[in-house]
Amino acid sequence: MSTTYVLDTATSRAHPTPAPMKRLNIPGIRQRKVDGVTTHPVVMLTAYTARQAQLLDEHCDLLLVGDSLGQVIYGLPSSVPVTLDMMCAHGAAVVRGSYHAAVVVDMPFGTYEGSPEQAFASASRVLKETGCAAVKLEGGAAMAETVAFLTARGIPVMGHVGLTPQAVNVLGGYNARGRSAAEAEKIVGDASAIAEAGAFAIVVEGVVEPLAVAITQAVPCPTIGIGASAQCDGQVLVTDDMLGMFERTPRFVKIYENLAETISAAAAAYAAEVRARTFPGVEQTYQPK
Ligand code: KIV
Repeated sequence: MSTTYVLDTATSRAHPTPAPMKRLNIPGIRQRKVDGVTTHPVVMLTAYTARQAQLLDEHCDLLLVGDSLGQVIYGLPSSVPVTLDMMCAHGAAVVRGSYHAAVVVDMPFGTYEGSPEQAFASASRVLKETGCAAVKLEGGAAMAETVAFLTARGIPVMGHVGLTPQAVNVLGGYNARGRSAAEAEKIVGDASAIAEAGAFAIVVEGVVEPLAVAITQAVPCPTIGIGASAQCDGQVLVTDDMLGMFERTPRFVKIYENLAETISAAAAAYAAEVRARTFPGVEQTYQPK
């Protein structure tokens, strides 16, 4: 599996292939934080398709093929039904569409929690089939042994603590975590356990700001926040959220562009022209030479 940008521009709608360059790597991302200080914040966005990856790649340090693709791409009610097949297919597309950012692929629910051996079988399949650089898995102290097992066997792991969407049925919803002292203490312990086990970075999702600060100070690796204030060592957003693709977005999302309106207006214009028989026009019509 190639990890360079290999879209055939003769047959695809891609932009011309940029000169391949050395991708950012996982040790380089880990080393962004030295003695508790991160001078260059880590920039991560989700990507699910080759074309999306092409557009985001040069701006990001990491592209995350998140299991949020369950809701965003497949219209599922949560990330729980997402499969390894889905993650492998989208992960490979994102690797094909990028050449600069390191690509991280989410391990879907049910493919890693059973044992370190189950996690290794799933994660090695993801690395082999996609060409990605690392996997991400959710959970704290209970997953520390698995993080150590994978890391010791050549699979870099990004952790994910705080609001862990795969555990929605245990958590009872997607509310911010860490409002009580006991819960905050547990989440700091979770982050410390997986950092100690070898996680190269940790996503901190949906926590109150003082907890984001406490986690970021407690762990030696970079924290990447989503709904976790500006105090983390980096940030991630679901790209489709920040592009305004949905009617409802969480409070922590900043909408940088309203693509839903743009797409709807374009579709309306197309439909009107088809109905008026003004599309296709002369420019879009083949004539005999
Ligand atoms: O699945 C996902 O997109 C994620 C991010 C929200 C961090 O895990």
